[in-house]
Amino acid sequence: TPSQDLEWVQCYSIFQCTRLEARSVPLDYSDPSVGNAALAVIRLAANSSPADYRGPILFNPGGPGGSGVDTLVASGPSFEVILGSKQYDLVSFDPRGVSYSTPIASFFETDAERALWNIASVPESLNASSDAIPHAWGRARLLGQLAAQRDMSGILKYMTTDNVARDMLRITQKFGFEKLKYYGISYGTVLGATFAALFPDKVERILIDGVVDADAWLNANLTIEATDTDKALQAFFDGCVAAGPDVCAFYKPTAAEIAGRLSTLTDSVRAQPVPAITTTGYGLVDYSFLRSVIFGALYSPYTTFAPLAEGLATLENGNGTVLYSLSQQSPFQCDCTNDTAPFHLNGMEARIAVECGDAVEVKDSIQQLADFYENAAKTSQFAEFSVGENRVSCSGWQVYREDRFKGPVTAANTSFPLLLVSTSADPVAPMAAALKVQAGFPGSVLFTQDSPGHTSTSAPSLCTINHFRQYFLNGTLPAPGTVCPV
Ligand SMILES: *[C@@H]1O[C@H](CO)[C@@H](O)[C@H](O)[C@H]1NC(C)=O
Ligand SMILES: *[C@@H]1O[C@H](CO)[C@@H](O)[C@H](O)[C@H]1NC(C)=O
Ligand SMILES: *[C@@H]1O[C@H](CO)[C@@H](O)[C@H](O)[C@H]1NC(C)=O
Ligand SMILES: *[C@@H]1O[C@H](CO)[C@@H](O)[C@H](O)[C@H]1NC(C)=O
Ligand SMILES: *[C@@H]1O[C@H](CO)[C@@H](O)[C@H](O)[C@H]1NC(C)=O
Ligand SMILES: *[C@@H]1O[C@H](CO)[C@@H](O)[C@H](O)[C@H]1NC(C)=O
Repeated sequence: TPSQDLEWVQCYSIFQCTRLEARSVPLDYSDPSVGNAALAVIRLAANSSPADYRGPILFNPGGPGGSGVDTLVASGPSFEVILGSKQYDLVSFDPRGVSYSTPIASFFETDAERALWNIASVPESLNASSDAIPHAWGRARLLGQLAAQRDMSGILKYMTTDNVARDMLRITQKFGFEKLKYYGISYGTVLGATFAALFPDKVERILIDGVVDADAWLNANLTIEATDTDKALQAFFDGCVAAGPDVCAFYKPTAAEIAGRLSTLTDSVRAQPVPAITTTGYGLVDYSFLRSVIFGALYSPYTTFAPLAEGLATLENGNGTVLYSLSQQSPFQCDCTNDTAPFHLNGMEARIAVECGDAVEVKDSIQQLADFYENAAKTSQFAEFSVGENRVSCSGWQVYREDRFKGPVTAANTSFPLLLVSTSADPVAPMAAALKVQAGFPGSVLFTQDSPGHTSTSAPSLCTINHFRQYFLNGTLPAPGTVCPV
């Protein structure tokens, strides 16, 4: 039941949950008459004496549209181990419009309707065929119109990142603290940087990991985010050579030969898609599917490169099942026996509402989108996915709030320096983007974790963890230029 204060109830066995609403969280911070949101907030409570208690650390898992509640349930105990302290409440929340927060962003009337849309949408490479861009443009316009027509609760234009930053301040204040302690990954770095730009004197700690260029974000031009994508793919080739044929199923003696082998396989799948049936589902391994699985694997090399190699090698032999199962697409099932369960899996809708609602209005024609993609493809051969998808999605979007925060995402003087971390080959949040954000916050420090993958969480590094601890517990920043091994 939503409440004005943080009235906790036990949930998910070791956690506490609450929903914070009404006057605390106005949908429109400049017009309270618009109504209120009720935010789902969860904590892994501190376990220390009142004298040692150090308040809440808020966490955002990215997306945008990711459920902070689900993420904390999955990862809260790990965060506690990483932080090595029980003096903090580890807190997350579903941003307004997302998952268990209400009202919820939703463009579809039933789960089945949503599933049919999603099945037809993903994954579609902008390079799949000559009509891929026109088709994606058309679907983006269709979705934009649907969203505008079906925005019954009126939530969409209030979901922007600036409002989520304001909500974080309210949550922090409800805990009895004036300044924010925060850890955000991926899109959560846009949120953290936006907070620092809006409330530079309310920063106690802001740690952002897998840093996205927030100004590029506001321009709906994520081209810079693809700077290291191909470097992450190169890590697959190099890693395969180093691992040898017993460990890497897609082995060849040199990286160039593995790249050639992959290119031959890709051409073959483009010419002749491979059907795949697994124990949980079925589908077609075609060009778009293969490309998207490879792109997805670049996020978490340490867990996915070996199975990717296995999937590619079996695919060469005409067997698509191993590769297909890497995509984790589970088939939609109508749960006809229980339609009382509240709907909350709205990641797709929340994502587009935030990424496009934050940005400048994009009115690209099909030709402009084709030019945009062609230019972005000079930065990475994977521009067909997140970079292109972001631009195409936003070309159909219609719902904007005129007084949203439009940047620049900078602050001359924050009340405590930000800490930034980047891996050395992040496929969607490269060092180049982290450097740009760092330049906007004088005094902030950027350090590197020397590994491929998206955010430092994609590989274990005691060195990285130690810097996190030093920062939160002691306020100590790593020396500039610090590089952490895994
Ligand atoms: C997008 O950004 C890239 C550089 O990151 C630039 O080359 C390109 O012109 C930009 N495109 C648009 C449409 O602004
Ligand atoms: C495909 O390969 C997997 C793993 O090696 C195997 O379990 C499966 O039986 C193969 N499927 C076919 C149709 O050969
Ligand atoms: C139906 O869903 C509700 C809400 O999630 C849940 O509490 C209930 O146990 C479910 N009932 C069945 C029969 O699965
Ligand atoms: C698009 O596909 C064609 C044909 O497979 C390929 O030659 C080209 O390099 C691809 N473009 C990009 C940007 O990956
Ligand atoms: C930055 O802000 C702090 C207080 O938040 C203040 O003590 C300090 O003098 C400021 N520094 C500069 C360079 O303005
Ligand atoms: C913080 O500093 C204190 C005193 O210098 C030290 O004993 C402690 O180990 C430090 N904590 C961390 C997590 O580095």
